[in-house]
Amino acid sequence: MLKENLQELQQHETPFYVYDLELLRQTLQAAQQEASRYNFHVHYAMKANANAPVLAEVLGVGFGADCVSGNEVRRAIENGFSPEHVVFAGVGKSDAEINYALEQDIFCFNCESSHELEILNELAEKKGRKARIALRINPNVNAKTHKYITTGLEENKFGINAWELESVLELLKQLPHIELIGIHFHIGSQITDLTVFKNLCTRVNEFQEWFEAHNVRLEHLNVGGGLGVDYYHPEQQPVPDFASYFSLFNQFLEVRPGQQVHFELGRALVAQCGALVSKVLYIKKGITTNFAILDAGMTELIRPALYQSYHKIENLTAAPSEEVRYDVVGPICESSDCFGKAVMLPETRRGDLIALHTAGAYGEVMASQYNLRDKAIAIYLNQ
Ligand code: LLP
Repeated sequence: MLKENLQELQQHETPFYVYDLELLRQTLQAAQQEASRYNFHVHYAMKANANAPVLAEVLGVGFGADCVSGNEVRRAIENGFSPEHVVFAGVGKSDAEINYALEQDIFCFNCESSHELEILNELAEKKGRKARIALRINPNVNAKTHKYITTGLEENKFGINAWELESVLELLKQLPHIELIGIHFHIGSQITDLTVFKNLCTRVNEFQEWFEAHNVRLEHLNVGGGLGVDYYHPEQQPVPDFASYFSLFNQFLEVRPGQQVHFELGRALVAQCGALVSKVLYIKKGITTNFAILDAGMTELIRPALYQSYHKIENLTAAPSEEVRYDVVGPICESSDCFGKAVMLPETRRGDLIALHTAGAYGEVMASQYNLRDKAIAIYLNQ
């Protein structure tokens, strides 16, 4: 795909992010089609990528927005999402963020602690409003993914633990400016083993029964996001298997009549449509390996340094030749600034364009200005 657009790519200063909006549309449409079979609602997890052209496509298929900061709530609303389709999660919402979301009268706050409920009640009272909330419950389900992106275990900071629920229900009786409308879960990200979601459904069903036994009717079940993508073969399955994902929830989640089911997908919707494109600055010969030193580094894409994550590396411009082993590194003064060790590439030279694939999610949004680096620009194909 990128090779077909080389001429266009070569016109831009590197490093830059490139997004294929046609692939994004196909992905969003596939997700929308599969979710709508069961009348499921999807809120796009904006933290994955909040660029305006991406949000416009998300809006185009009618998804809502899942936000984790006041600025994300603002960005969603400024880009056309209706507040009634905005949910707001996070363990540490500031007063200013809560106030803004209250003013906008968003659909739902996903609340993560008793203390947060008390503060939200106080702030809503001051504004003469009632905040709709879902309790984010920590279901203690192992997501079997990288420990930094596992969120649904009791050892993690996220959500309210099962043993606290009794006291939370008692507390809610004293908080008149809060309306409990549902329960929320998110157990982790880049989940590729679908049985993990089956385990989540089992836990959600148990929690539902617990709430019913306590005479609480829940209008909404929000099961979060987490569906993973194939970083190793981005071209083989660019559109994730949404059919299996949503049908699994349809099969195993016990949905009561009239109840609405919500999802918060991020990565699965936007990862494959984006790549980071960089230029080779230098080739440095080592003893056992050669270094290909790029003009992009961990400041543009931090995932390999932070999670040891794999992104497929492709030389877009080298002539076909026998492959040589390279450690592909960035210019930042950190040894962790390495995109891949012992990567097999055709003979690579200064000036070659290198793509780091599957960077549409948690790429540009996690960029930093460390070393006073400039921010990489974004370009869009098939606009
Ligand atoms: N809902 C909540 C409450 C979340 O915390 C997240 C992601 C999502 C939904 C979306 O999850 P997704 O469908 O994208 O897996 N920076 C890491 C990923 C962190 C994910 C944080 N929460 C990475 O680069 O892998």
